[in-house]
Amino acid sequence: MNVYDSGQMVKQLALQGYRQVSSPEQADLIISNTCAIREKAEQKVFSFLGRLASLKRRKPSLIIAVGGCVAQQEGKKILERMPHVDLVFGTHAISRLSGLIRQVELLREPVVAVEMSDVIDESHLVLAAGDNEGVSRFVTIMQGCDNFCTYCVVPYVRGRENSRKPDNIVKEIRQAVASGAREVTLLGQNVNSYGKKEHLCSFPELLERVCHIEGLSRVRFTTSHPKDLSAELICAFRDLDRLCKHFHLPVQSGSNQILKRMNRKYTRETYLEKVQKLRAVCPDIAISSDFIVGFPGESRDDFEQTLDLVRTVEYDSLFVFKYSDRPNAPAADYPDKIPDDEKNERLHRLLELQEEITVRKHEALVGTIQQVLVEGLSKKQPLSNLKEEFQDIQWSGRSSGNKIVNFSVKDSCRAADEDLTGKLMYIRIQKACSHSLWGQPVEEELKLTEVEGEDGYYAA
Ligand code: 5AD
Ligand code: SF4
Repeated sequence: MNVYDSGQMVKQLALQGYRQVSSPEQADLIISNTCAIREKAEQKVFSFLGRLASLKRRKPSLIIAVGGCVAQQEGKKILERMPHVDLVFGTHAISRLSGLIRQVELLREPVVAVEMSDVIDESHLVLAAGDNEGVSRFVTIMQGCDNFCTYCVVPYVRGRENSRKPDNIVKEIRQAVASGAREVTLLGQNVNSYGKKEHLCSFPELLERVCHIEGLSRVRFTTSHPKDLSAELICAFRDLDRLCKHFHLPVQSGSNQILKRMNRKYTRETYLEKVQKLRAVCPDIAISSDFIVGFPGESRDDFEQTLDLVRTVEYDSLFVFKYSDRPNAPAADYPDKIPDDEKNERLHRLLELQEEITVRKHEALVGTIQQVLVEGLSKKQPLSNLKEEFQDIQWSGRSSGNKIVNFSVKDSCRAADEDLTGKLMYIRIQKACSHSLWGQPVEEELKLTEVEGEDGYYAA
């Protein structure tokens, strides 16, 4: 969401004559767009801002702005701690950024804008695409959250749930496609609630509209709260060809006792039922999740239940976080805090378990043919542990299940200098690595004779 918001800031400021530069020393304006989800992210903001003080001393005309969730949370306290900051603007002030910067330019005194509103202000959103934004783009469809999980700061810093109008979303995606986008990820804290308050269309209806936008190859979304995952949304994976076969379904814990204390409003059993339903409709769907380890009161047994859930679901990938206290979040006042070394141990055990599962899942894909959206040239790969035939990897993209796939055009009928960025290619997987897959393009004629198998496409 911050990536999308930062893009909005850049587009608004471009209309005001600002352009991006490649180093802080060259800048007349520096904006730090901040994240408050965990304590560590917040600490990073303050150390970054601290480093800017000497730059400001050398160049007093430099404007330093702080936006996003930490700005929303801390407000004018940021000015007390960092007197060289000129502007603090919260999550609901992004659409007014141009005016706020102008105010600082004219008045040359600090400005704080952290009021929150009940409705989303789309009037200043720049729907037009910017330059070089890549093949895959984020589009925020709603802001805020009404769920109040007890560990989470989001409802306090992003406010109540509010949805954007479907026509504006579609218009924005059409313009993105016109400027080279082939994939969009629709963003919201809980996309299942999209449009409910405002009596707009439902999320599955929005998905269907987006999937029919001409020129768009793929659609993804995140995040879906397990308690609200509807049968209608599950069916979208059967009905919408362009919807990628990947579902991010954050569970946070495998223990019912902890889920209750987190105020997640589902149990391990109802969560597993939803996973089963998803797999019944779409057997090869990739499923990923978020976990918090060391939530206050999480016993060794609770943690064992988390490990057991991971073994049962066999996720494709996981994000694992150590619990940290957040301002206003009720869990900050819960007793039975878990010591940091215990949190570290649980984090590593969970990551290790997932790594074993990921390797197994990647190996099972060797020999399959995966549809890949090419994102660009692959970064220089560490070649030392690869055999000769894999050493000329050139291109990188993602499979429908969101796995990174690298491939070379050597020994295919593609010209070595053809730009494949944005193309949908069919790649036969030849090698599984821990974080990516490697393969070779399969030519068009072969593609026509493919049959769909459980883990992808097999050549007939
Ligand atoms: N501590 C640790 N992790 C957190 N998350 C949210 N709040 C906290 C917190 N206080 C994690 C959750 C969420 C992800 C975006 O961040 O797992 O799904
Ligand atoms: Fe935070 Fe829970 Fe809302 Fe997700 S659903 S943003 S974890 S309060």
